[in-house]
Amino acid sequence: MRKLLDFIYDEINFKEILRNPKRWVGYSFIIIFLAIFVVSLSFLDQIDKLYRNATPYDEPDPQKLFKDVELSLGKKIEGVKIEEIKSPTNEMLARAREIYTTTCASCHGPNGNGDGIAGKGLNPPPRDFASITGWKIGRGIVQIYKTLQEGIPGTAMVSYDYLSPKEKIALFYVINGFSNDVPEVTAKDIQELDETYKVTQNLDVPPTIPIAKAISKISNENKNYLDKIQKISLALNDEYLDKYISDKRSFANFILRASNFQQNYLDLLLESFPLNGVSPKFIKASKQEKEKFFDRLTSLIKMD
Ligand code: HEC
Repeated sequence: MRKLLDFIYDEINFKEILRNPKRWVGYSFIIIFLAIFVVSLSFLDQIDKLYRNATPYDEPDPQKLFKDVELSLGKKIEGVKIEEIKSPTNEMLARAREIYTTTCASCHGPNGNGDGIAGKGLNPPPRDFASITGWKIGRGIVQIYKTLQEGIPGTAMVSYDYLSPKEKIALFYVINGFSNDVPEVTAKDIQELDETYKVTQNLDVPPTIPIAKAISKISNENKNYLDKIQKISLALNDEYLDKYISDKRSFANFILRASNFQQNYLDLLLESFPLNGVSPKFIKASKQEKEKFFDRLTSLIKMD
């Protein structure tokens, strides 16, 4: 220590510095260096606070990010026959009248005059079906089908695409019935209708199940399966079997999944080695030992 101080006193002429303060400038780089060093130390000391995010992260709930599908049974939507497009059956017309009363009359009025209660004050107002002028999309079969399929954007006339082709086609007759002036349905109309909307095709609409429900169903099924594995692994508690089974749970999983285990157990075991949980000793064991293993196994576990 003394030596170091002596060294510093030899190197720096303190008296000279005091007498002539300008000489400090010569040491300024040391001072600057020390200043930076001190600032850095205090910076390092605070670093965890400096980089901590002050706003807490609000994790979005994935369930709310998308709309889940609804539970629905699958259904078959029957296509319409060509001749039914030109002359709908009484059954089709009765069904369309029923739909009109329950779904359309609230706006378009019971007699199609556009004077339904729910239509009051709408802009544009609901079409008056008794009048054959002023239609926006048109009164032809293709146009009315289009209106029902797509709706009229920006108006209260929404899409009724869930109606079947039969129902939409029959509605064309019901709606134009209010003016007693049904536009002719030409062969060209029928062709266009079928090309655009595939009205003659039968459709299979597959059943849908909400994802949340599907997940809970799958995990319940899985739970049952895991319970079974647990049961079997417990039943496998046997000294003789322990010699040949290295992993009880894998083995339980293996016999649960193996079909025809009784007949093919040896082939199956050899094929799936070593994932099936038997030890290599079993592969090398004699035929008698293997048979004994199987007898022991079937005496402990009922196979089906
Ligand atoms: C909520 C009220 C409302 C209901 C319910 C409603 N509509 Fe409309 N509909 C309207 C309005 C409003 C218009 C006029 C839109 C326009 O002029 O742009 C309209 C127009 C129409 C047109 C005329 C399209 C054209 O070319 O001008 C047809 C056809 C039609 N609706 C059929 C139906 C049928 C069939 C139903 C029942 C399945 C139905 N609407 C149910 C409000 C409704």
